[in-house]
Amino acid sequence: MDRLEKYLHDEFGLSLDTIGRERALHKVRALMHAAGFFDSGDYIDALVGSEEQRQRLFDAVTVAESWFFRDEAPFSFLNRWATDRHRQRPQDHLHLLSIPCAGGEEAYSIAITLLKAGIPDSAFDVDAIDLNSRLVERAREGVFGSHSFRGVKRDDYADFFLPAPSGDALEVRARVKERIRFAEGNLFSLENVLNGRRFDAIFCRNLLIYFSPESQVRALNILRDRLVPDGVLFLGHAEAGAGVLDLFEPCGVAGAFAFNARKGSVLPARGGGPLRETMVKGAVKGAKKRGAVGKSARPRPRVAAADGAISAQQKVFLDLKRLADSGNLSTAVEQCDILLDHASDDARVLYLCGVVNEASGRHEKACLLYRRALEVDPHQSDVMFHLAATLEALGETAEARQLKATAGNLKGRQDEQEAGGD
Ligand SMILES: C[S@@+](CC[C@H](N)C(=O)[O-])C[C@H]1O[C@@H](n2cnc3c(N)ncnc32)[C@H](O)[C@@H]1O
Repeated sequence: MDRLEKYLHDEFGLSLDTIGRERALHKVRALMHAAGFFDSGDYIDALVGSEEQRQRLFDAVTVAESWFFRDEAPFSFLNRWATDRHRQRPQDHLHLLSIPCAGGEEAYSIAITLLKAGIPDSAFDVDAIDLNSRLVERAREGVFGSHSFRGVKRDDYADFFLPAPSGDALEVRARVKERIRFAEGNLFSLENVLNGRRFDAIFCRNLLIYFSPESQVRALNILRDRLVPDGVLFLGHAEAGAGVLDLFEPCGVAGAFAFNARKGSVLPARGGGPLRETMVKGAVKGAKKRGAVGKSARPRPRVAAADGAISAQQKVFLDLKRLADSGNLSTAVEQCDILLDHASDDARVLYLCGVVNEASGRHEKACLLYRRALEVDPHQSDVMFHLAATLEALGETAEARQLKATAGNLKGRQDEQEAGGD
């Protein structure tokens, strides 16, 4: 599979280590055999000559999952940022980019956020790009089933959608569609698609996680060059590792994973160190012994109060979340200590306190909290990605790399299960 692995890396920037080697190879073999090839060299030759085969291979090894307003904090921050920008410089036209846009949910969420914030239609536009041509077509159509609305109340966005002709799907209204230019394109060769265009804000979420460290560096440099000097880059929650911090500085809003470019910075190429056993493998083994494996992959809200009443503990949790989302990190750190006194074995609390400490630069404390969260529930890929990013910041690159691979495998399985819910 060496040639195939190299092909995936050179063509798409993908790393089998990161996307989950066993799962990816299993899928590639199935695809290769279904196409009538039993020799990987012959298969590659066929890939080079067939856009359709190439697309199928790519689709098989990546998970193109997306949904409206995925993660709350980035969109609340976008709302505040765009409102401030428009108030300060009302004559400016805002250019935004969503790459990768998958089936379009993220690009439409961006446009709806700006329209809801009162930015005039004529004052902004969104470019939206994805490598997968079928997804780009779907995005242009703008018709979405209930699965794309998980996590949001559809009624809150009624002004921006129409009932679609069939089923309970909704279609994005023309007013929103007109703000977006969808195009097929590869992040690594954007010039044909974007020409010299640069952006005030770029959403590049849940793409870097699939890439090798070298491809991540290439991608981050490309994104930096596409931002205007005071532009904002939004990354996925699992992508804000130390490599990013060489080139960008956090905007300081916990949970938004928003960054400004550092002045005059260019990322050096990074290499991976030797692998060693991860603490998570140990934690998973330990959890198996304790019979914890098989519990929900998501942190469970054990701070929820009985009978709908809000407990003092839950109130502290909600206050903490609000403080963190609004960027008030020093107070949020103090709140963490209060909350941890009462809920030190709650995975959700440990995770949130980890994020707050990580965002405040307290990396060692954040590591400790993420590790404890994984002891309580070892099936949290989000926590693993955060722990990996924090380990990277502490220079523990080998452990971070291995942990990312484990998290990638786990997340792939979870995304597939979620996608199966369609
Ligand atoms: C998980 S989706 C992310 C969508 C959206 N940004 C989000 O966070 O919900 C990943 C997408 O990356 C796209 N992709 C992968 N490699 C790419 C590349 N080199 N250039 C552009 N898009 C790419 C895939 O087609 C897929 O639709």
